[in-house]
Amino acid sequence: MSAAKRTRRHKPSPAPARGDRKSGGARPPRLPAQYARLVSAAARARRRAYAPYSQFPVGAAVLANDGTIYAGCNVENSSYGLALCAERVAIHTAVASGRRRLTAVAVVGPAGITLTPCGACRQVMEEFGVQTVIIAGPRGAPAVVSLQSLLPIPFTRGWTRSHHAGL
Ligand code: THU
Repeated sequence: MSAAKRTRRHKPSPAPARGDRKSGGARPPRLPAQYARLVSAAARARRRAYAPYSQFPVGAAVLANDGTIYAGCNVENSSYGLALCAERVAIHTAVASGRRRLTAVAVVGPAGITLTPCGACRQVMEEFGVQTVIIAGPRGAPAVVSLQSLLPIPFTRGWTRSHHAGL
């Protein structure tokens, strides 16, 4: 099923939501409770990051469609290319726990950096139906963005299916 055809559970804004300027903009809008929980889980997981080579700890958490949350952190290796991103650790943990329908991912990077997920993680999010990405620093207002805005033309499994069907 294409991303466009999937029903949208949440309505992420295409651009980062950074505060309501009309009302003075002093305080950013509050995240929905479920997203706030997701960000907290990602921030907690970030403390467990194994990033001795990059010194760039990242935490992520994924929300499954039944409300369950799975967390992950980046895990590096002395063979640098083996590093795993926090997002994929979280997503694959969800899948290994039997949850394949995922709705949102929160990611928390080092202070002062608004981290956006790498291309590989975006593609993995697409595979399991993620619609919304919440990007947060340890301080500051989180941005809620759609996966569609981060990965507008994904590779989809529909293409391999039609290929094998001889279409
Ligand atoms: N990293 C993540 O965990 N998530 C991202 O979205 C980007 C990068 C990790 C991989 C590596 O351990 C470190 O950050 C530096 O690239």
